[in-house]
Amino acid sequence: MPVNPNFLERLVLFRLNKAPAPMLDLFGAASFEAVSLALDLGLFETLADAETPLTAAALADRIDAHPDGIATLCDFLVTEGYLAASDGSYRLTGMTEKWLLTTSETNMGPWLTFWNELVFPFWERELETAVVEGEPSQSIYEWFDEEPARWETAQAGFRATASLLVDDVTDAVSVPDGNARLVDVGGGHGLYTIELCRRHPNLTATIFDLPGAVETLGDEVPAEVADRVRTRAGDYLTDDLGDGYDVALLFNVVHAHDPAENTALFERVADSLAPNGRIVLLDQWEGSGRTPVSRAGLRFVALTYLTTLDATVYTHEEVTSWLREAGFEDITRRSVGPVAGQALVEATKR
Ligand SMILES: C[S@@+](CC[C@H](N)C(=O)[O-])C[C@H]1O[C@@H](n2cnc3c(N)ncnc32)[C@H](O)[C@@H]1O
Repeated sequence: MPVNPNFLERLVLFRLNKAPAPMLDLFGAASFEAVSLALDLGLFETLADAETPLTAAALADRIDAHPDGIATLCDFLVTEGYLAASDGSYRLTGMTEKWLLTTSETNMGPWLTFWNELVFPFWERELETAVVEGEPSQSIYEWFDEEPARWETAQAGFRATASLLVDDVTDAVSVPDGNARLVDVGGGHGLYTIELCRRHPNLTATIFDLPGAVETLGDEVPAEVADRVRTRAGDYLTDDLGDGYDVALLFNVVHAHDPAENTALFERVADSLAPNGRIVLLDQWEGSGRTPVSRAGLRFVALTYLTTLDATVYTHEEVTSWLREAGFEDITRRSVGPVAGQALVEATKR
């Protein structure tokens, strides 16, 4: 968590501009490095498993590190809100317990690891190229293909963010009664499909994704739905998606493509749907960031989409016009998730 300045510090840093506010970005960058290391070392899990708060020496002993190094790291993590200290011992804060423990349903650790191990190293290579030349020299998905383990880290990260939205989203997506069929286009980790199949016993589903992504699914599909969830490897821009589906999900897919590709993809999806079939999009939409955090979040994802995918965030009007052009009608929109900016857009095949 970025350090939260007190009233006087906010006055000096932001209002009076008397001290260098960019220093806070430096603290934020250092904090991200420190948290990533803590995750790597299993520091948070070790504190969670301990029956009482631990001294730096006891913690260092359990994770095989140097006591002075652990003390310095932990003292910094205290100032950043990840740990609390009393009487020379450290314990987790509620924030860390909720967002960074593997036992938590809202564990964002894999998302931070994804950024630490893949996205920021990719930014190092491509941010300047993307800004100066207008596009990166390759997409992050092409780069994942060079080393298949990258796909596993990526899908674990996507899955972590999906876990924050899965209840909201599966509440909102309606599935026809009877034997319904769904395709999850770019479905990756499959969390949304798995949860929808759990809730709808007559639903069968196909997760369509690139070969590298499909291979990582492996044991992720729980036994209770495994006989109703299939995978199909291919490129959704060119390969056969199958046909006769009642519902098609395109979650976090639209932002990766230019307008012509999106319109063509919607047309391909329309062809794969049964009459009156529905397409459901989930994405971040331009114009939806109205508070400082959601505005920064939207501009942050726009910069990373440019750098990693040569892509961007689109407006609701843009996506609506592509859907109409591709043969969809009755377009509705519904916000989902704890942070403003993400919404489901749903439409019916004419
Ligand atoms: C940002 S992830 C979203 C995963 C999941 N739908 C979600 O919302 O959490 C985008 C997914 O699209 C897949 N993808 C990207 N380009 C693709 C293509 N041309 N054909 C098939 N899948 C693709 C990626 O492999 C990845 O799993």
